[in-house]
Amino acid sequence: MIDQEKVIVIDFGGQYNQLVARRVRECNVYCEIYSYRTDIAQIKAMRPKGIILTGGPNSCYEEGAATYSRELFELGIPVLGLCYGAQLMVHILGGKVEKAQVREYGKTEVFVNPASPLFEGVGELVEDVPDDKNASKKTICWMSHFDYISQLAPGFEAVAHTADCPVAAAQDIERKLFAIQFHPEVLHTPEGTKMLFNFVRNVCGCAGTWRMDSFVEQSIREIREKVGDGKVLCALSGGVDSSVAAVMMSKAVGNRLTCVFVDQGLLRKNEGDEVAAVFGPDGPYDLDFIRINAQERFYGKLAGVTEPERKRKIIGEEFIRVFEEEAKKIGAVDFLVQGTIYPDVVESGLGGESAVIKSHHNVGGLPDYVDFKEIIEPLRFLFKDEVRAAGLELGIPENLVYRQPFPGPGLGIRIIGEVTAEKVRIVQDADAIYREEIAKAGLDRSIGQYFAALTNMRSVGVMGDERTYDYAVALRAVNTIDFMTAESAEIPFSVLQTVMSRIINEVRGVNRVFYDLTSKPPGTIEFE
Ligand code: XMP
Repeated sequence: MIDQEKVIVIDFGGQYNQLVARRVRECNVYCEIYSYRTDIAQIKAMRPKGIILTGGPNSCYEEGAATYSRELFELGIPVLGLCYGAQLMVHILGGKVEKAQVREYGKTEVFVNPASPLFEGVGELVEDVPDDKNASKKTICWMSHFDYISQLAPGFEAVAHTADCPVAAAQDIERKLFAIQFHPEVLHTPEGTKMLFNFVRNVCGCAGTWRMDSFVEQSIREIREKVGDGKVLCALSGGVDSSVAAVMMSKAVGNRLTCVFVDQGLLRKNEGDEVAAVFGPDGPYDLDFIRINAQERFYGKLAGVTEPERKRKIIGEEFIRVFEEEAKKIGAVDFLVQGTIYPDVVESGLGGESAVIKSHHNVGGLPDYVDFKEIIEPLRFLFKDEVRAAGLELGIPENLVYRQPFPGPGLGIRIIGEVTAEKVRIVQDADAIYREEIAKAGLDRSIGQYFAALTNMRSVGVMGDERTYDYAVALRAVNTIDFMTAESAEIPFSVLQTVMSRIINEVRGVNRVFYDLTSKPPGTIEFE
């Protein structure tokens, strides 16, 4: 929990809830998401300047539907309800919500009352409209609802409507309560961010001072206070999240931080050395860095294993074992640092309600194996691009900050069939060439994720005058918003040709290169 001006989002399980937090932060107002199960005393203790209730999948009038204490609306804190949140507010305060004949879904023209503080500066004047002040401006909004507000609660007035929805927005100015039936948080509501800005900055009176530099400074101060002269341990993977977390910790507590970096022999080409160059004794940070070269140990465990889930398990377990051995040498520590970021928190159902649990979260289980008192997660409230911004703010090199997402089990899940040192070399070399050419073509920041993988297929080719019988490399590149679905990226053919010919010429053991066109679903992003 960060002690500064903030808005609290109460999550009722809708699919856009993270976006709400996102947009609020774009208004330079710090924002945290809590489940609707969070006790009101806890919400009050956070002294929020405003509260936003999100959408959700239920019908608020049904038995057992997600709800909240009426007291929330009596705190004198401005509240904005969105979609389900809007209906729930009206329902709790004495209005009526019913199922409509038809579902209203998609981009919809909405008529708004410009006198409402929510709609200040929103919409275009409508010329041929009746003398209805609620309809003098129009804009586009994204609707997705079955239920609708059929009767307002006492004290409320409608301030927007659509062709099918008599109450697209409502307000009780006195009590600073606002309800919006549509979704201002999604980009399909082009002026949605303006509406949220109006709420958080004008209605709630937030000053809008949230900036990454102040976040970083404040976090460092808070960590320093918390840790005192305690000892801190961090499992550093070299990925963006753990690197940013480690640097933040080292700025806060210096060499009372020990970072353990396990090179399992499944990293990208030269990655182990790159991580050591940044975090090791010759790097700019004052921390205790331990690199463990455990390549042989991992290859040994993986010998003869072909089944992907088995490989994942072996890599995960061996990682824990190595880490545990090292932690034992260090002895008891007071704090363990984890690079958990906001989407992880929400995905694993800890933050809000819209839980989609991913099966593969890297360091799961680690805490049980290490003797420590408490976990510190300095990035717990940041989105990925905010983590990157924090990294730059902390002076971490750009190549590290903009690193591709890389799975915990590393190249172990980019090699089909048995993992061997030879195959790791092939995929590392091919991947390095691919990344180099993608960067040369200026595509490195625009493609979501791209890498080379090694198929287990060998086929006949001819090189010079010689017959070859070598492996096929698969190139993967996808664009994705949330990594839950993805489309293969359109890479210019000439770039693919260059990559293909360089890989075949420069990487021994490869005589074919494929480009993987599969989207997710039915494929996955990784190639295992
Ligand atoms: P899939 O292959 O499931 O990948 O479509 C989705 C995203 O998750 C990453 N991924 C992992 N990340 N540990 C991680 O930290 C893992 O075990 C793991 N498996 C997949 C993958 O790189 C992609 O970004």
